[in-house]
Amino acid sequence: MPEKIVLAYSGGLDTTVAVRWLTESRGFDVIALTVDLGSQPDLAAIRNRAMVSGAAQAYVLDARRPFIERFCWPALRAGALYGQYPLATALGRPLIAQLLVEVAIREGASWVAHGSTGKGNDQVRFDVAVGALAPHLKVLAPLRDGMSMTREQEIGYARAHGLPIEVKPQSPYSIDENLWGRSIEAGVLEDALLKPPEDAFLWTSSVDAAPASAALIELVFERGVPTAMDGRAIAGPALVAQLNKLGGLHGVGRIDMIEDRFVGIKSREVYEAPAAVILHAAHRALEELVLDGEVARFKTSAGQEYARLVYQGKWFTAHRRDLDAYVMSTQQAVTGRVRIELHKGNVRVVGRSSPYSLYQPALATYSAGDQFDHQAAVGFITLVGLPVRTQARVQGSAATEPLLEDDRHVVEVGPGAFEGGLAEPVLAPAVPGVVDADLGR
Ligand code: ARG
Repeated sequence: MPEKIVLAYSGGLDTTVAVRWLTESRGFDVIALTVDLGSQPDLAAIRNRAMVSGAAQAYVLDARRPFIERFCWPALRAGALYGQYPLATALGRPLIAQLLVEVAIREGASWVAHGSTGKGNDQVRFDVAVGALAPHLKVLAPLRDGMSMTREQEIGYARAHGLPIEVKPQSPYSIDENLWGRSIEAGVLEDALLKPPEDAFLWTSSVDAAPASAALIELVFERGVPTAMDGRAIAGPALVAQLNKLGGLHGVGRIDMIEDRFVGIKSREVYEAPAAVILHAAHRALEELVLDGEVARFKTSAGQEYARLVYQGKWFTAHRRDLDAYVMSTQQAVTGRVRIELHKGNVRVVGRSSPYSLYQPALATYSAGDQFDHQAAVGFITLVGLPVRTQARVQGSAATEPLLEDDRHVVEVGPGAFEGGLAEPVLAPAVPGVVDADLGR
């Protein structure tokens, strides 16, 4: 009896050839698994292609909802951005890996396979995730582990074996896409100086083509998760799809960055992620309103750690679970409304409110009704400055070179000097030396 292998099948040239190669050269019964994360694939055609290419069975699963709710929402709550990258591809991989494992167990397969190459992060994400969920399963990545064909060889192989591939003119880029974003790399983008050509973008307008007038939207969050837009409750996948469309129209969500891959390579990566960019901006704005300052600061580091961990394929780890528990606890008051303007490539937060807002106009105001105790500030500053004054007295001031004596750009400005144009600023008199005010001498 041939061994069974479950292959993550996109329906593209690489994995279609892999279906036949795993069958013919490796003697497997191939179970193709296609997971829809919102890239709008023709699922019936993909299923058919898998079967015609020699798969023993083909699963096609719509996982858009768990993708958004179980993978993207936790990343959003955490504020997880790898640099500017909202991690669309990186969040999709562990979900696909989990389904590979679950199908393998259901079908009694002892192998799983995926179409990653040996140069990227995706192989790490698949392999590490499978190992975390089912250490007994063996993983094969044909493109890395033995299939080794060039694109031309793959086309020749497909023709010779009657595989149903349409040989479209080769996309100039390598693309991965799901609801949370579209990742574009390779081709001319490898020239880091070159502005990404317009044909790299599919979801977003250029700033020039974006409408002249802004769109204003209002998002409602409940405990850190968006639940309504413009007054209407909306499910996660529909909200994300809608924001991708509207944000894309306004040119929002284009990202162009140099990224540090886990395998040690720096690479130039271009992304389109309108919904993710808008939602992160809105979520951050609401957190500014409701999180205590200390939490806000510490959570920023936690979010960076979270992003690194997701990027590096460590989704199914106790570390992620522990960070999630912390992040969840911070989100108890992240409930409220955020108003956002989308305009010519920009996301602008223009308003926010929450029943848990820590922003108290009576304390913040410069106008009548101020309840802030100004005299308390004097004592506060005396104590904040105490260690600084003590150190200056005992060890000397930490100031650098004097400005007044040494810096030739500090000039004395005589009467009438302003008439001739811009003048250098006048400095206040130098501070007298060390005074032992704290000790009363
Ligand atoms: N650099 C991104 C990441 O590692 C995107 C990878 C996209 N993959 C692709 N086949 N184009 O998450």
